[in-house]
Amino acid sequence: REQLCESVQQCVLHCEVIVEGEMQVYGIEVEITDTNDHAPSFREPETELRISEMTSQGSRFPLRDAQDEDSGQNSVQSYELSGDEHFSLAVQTGPHGDRRPELVLAKALDREMTAFHELVLRASDGGEPSRTGTAHIRVSVLDVNDNAPVFSPAEYMLRVSEDMPVGSTLVTVTATDTDEGIYGHVKYLMKKFTEKASKIFQLDSETGVITLVQSLDFEEGDSFELVVQAQDGGGLYDTAKIRITVTDVNDNAPEISIRSVLSTISEDAPLGMVVALLHVRDQDSGANGKVQCSLVGGLPFRLQSLQGSLYRVVTSRGLDREAVSEYNVTVRVVDSGLRALWSSVVLSLHVLDVNDNAPMFAEERY
Ligand SMILES: *[C@@H]1O[C@H](CO)[C@@H](O)[C@H](O)[C@H]1NC(C)=O
Repeated sequence: REQLCESVQQCVLHCEVIVEGEMQVYGIEVEITDTNDHAPSFREPETELRISEMTSQGSRFPLRDAQDEDSGQNSVQSYELSGDEHFSLAVQTGPHGDRRPELVLAKALDREMTAFHELVLRASDGGEPSRTGTAHIRVSVLDVNDNAPVFSPAEYMLRVSEDMPVGSTLVTVTATDTDEGIYGHVKYLMKKFTEKASKIFQLDSETGVITLVQSLDFEEGDSFELVVQAQDGGGLYDTAKIRITVTDVNDNAPEISIRSVLSTISEDAPLGMVVALLHVRDQDSGANGKVQCSLVGGLPFRLQSLQGSLYRVVTSRGLDREAVSEYNVTVRVVDSGLRALWSSVVLSLHVLDVNDNAPMFAEERY
């Protein structure tokens, strides 16, 4: 029937019978009735739809309809959709009674949750029994830049020893962006930093690696705060704070500076006479900067500690030029670091003569 009449509703064949000899003509009409011998079929059994994840709910997307060569009730009567709660089906009826299936977005899409939706559209005819045809629809969700990069963690706390070698990696900051393509491509940049910090730390914009490009010095700066920004190709961004605490290393030896010193002393100088005024200091902090000062050797001098890291060297015994005419007084200062550093100065002191000896004969009697 489908071949002879194609889409004609009533398929009637006309023929004539002529009875020989009688000269009579009989008209014969043969109506070929339809049976459900064709199933609905889709021209494209596999289709792909590309829908932006920002598409609003209720949007409609026309689908190709199914063909069924049978007519009437034996042709396509209904459609149904299965596979995904994000989509539902609407069927429009055209001016000639044809049914047009449409995909309706029932629930907002999120590419980062589900990038593809697999749907099955089934067309059924009204025959007894009914025949069906299916089409597979794959919906690819197109990305929009709906996700900003996110730093994890959002704050970095670092403790760095001041003797960390130049070129070392301090930390690698990472921000993730679940978008794809350029919307998910994150670049890093320093957002807030001091002039000094910009010379010491360097951030790789692609990898997020922060390296030390200049040596640290606890004595010049014991903490830094950087703000790093991660930005995706669509301009969305996040920031992270990096707090760097520099820890002290005993890298400075204590220093002694001579504020005032005598180069000569009279041998009748009184006890407690001040010979030198010294100042000691150590640039390290804590135990590394705590100093102890002492005199080396059993000389007739001692140290007096004053406030403000000042020391006085004073005489502690009487002097006698005739016994010792010159002293080299070594003052030594040592810090309390694990590996203690020290330094020393030598004060050279000449004892001046006083007329404290009367002339004396070697022999009383000659
Ligand atoms: C003191 O030091 C100077 C210079 O090093 C040296 O010439 C001198 O002999 C020393 N004097 C004493 C008493 O050690």
